[in-house]
Amino acid sequence: MTMHDERSTARHLSSIAGAKTAIILGTGLGIMEEAITVAESVDYGDIPGFPVSSVAGHQGRLLFGELGGQRVVVMSGRFHLYEGYSAREVTYPIRVFSLMGIRTIFISNAAGGLRPDLTPGSAMLITDHINLTGRNPLIGPNDDTMGPRFPDMTRPYCPSLNDRARSFAQGSGIDLKEGVYVQVPGPSMETAAETRMLQIMGAHAVGMSTVMEVIQAVHCGMDVLAISAITNNNDPDRYLGAPIEEVIAMAHKAGPAIARIFRGILEG
Ligand code: HPA
Repeated sequence: MTMHDERSTARHLSSIAGAKTAIILGTGLGIMEEAITVAESVDYGDIPGFPVSSVAGHQGRLLFGELGGQRVVVMSGRFHLYEGYSAREVTYPIRVFSLMGIRTIFISNAAGGLRPDLTPGSAMLITDHINLTGRNPLIGPNDDTMGPRFPDMTRPYCPSLNDRARSFAQGSGIDLKEGVYVQVPGPSMETAAETRMLQIMGAHAVGMSTVMEVIQAVHCGMDVLAISAITNNNDPDRYLGAPIEEVIAMAHKAGPAIARIFRGILEG
């Protein structure tokens, strides 16, 4: 794939954006688009340097619009390591967003619950993560104008955004769980033994995205809020499969609550 220059792509998109917040919609969470007033839509294929998302449940376009009275840029569909993209390719949009002046990013994903209370259709605020991919988008020469060589990861998920998510959920009757998300490379799902290992490691939800984007966003100095739509529950002692159709259906169930939280925070 030809490497494009993040700066020229950002300049190109800034003319139609003016947003301060970016939102990434995960697998099956395209349904959240309904909450967004869309002014403009650009297919990833028409944006220099953007890979084209190929996964079921992903749309593959950038939306410019409004949510909660604020201008937002929305990735409807994201890129995954399992599609064959490098960690740098997966996170290209984040660097473009940063150069467009975006300081806050809201991330959603579909994930398997590893704790009994994380049942299909529930939503989990990500308070920390484990990178089990063996990859990192920051490997290679560091662009010091973008961020530091060794970014601090003591608080990758913005404590004040987390507090706002908690209080909005509480005031709205949304049962927002909390926990640690682990990113695995995929695309094969975890075995029962791997699931047990993830639980022992301290993970509460498992998925195939997000951590690469969060590392890049932290490097760029963005405030990050991330919420998982729990689409299946993985109990290693009674292990059931999670077909993609079920993952998408359960993401649809959790999507509206996540959209309400994102909107509630933007409304202030
Ligand atoms: N494992 C990995 N990724 C996932 C899962 C899972 O159980 N559910 C949704 N995405």
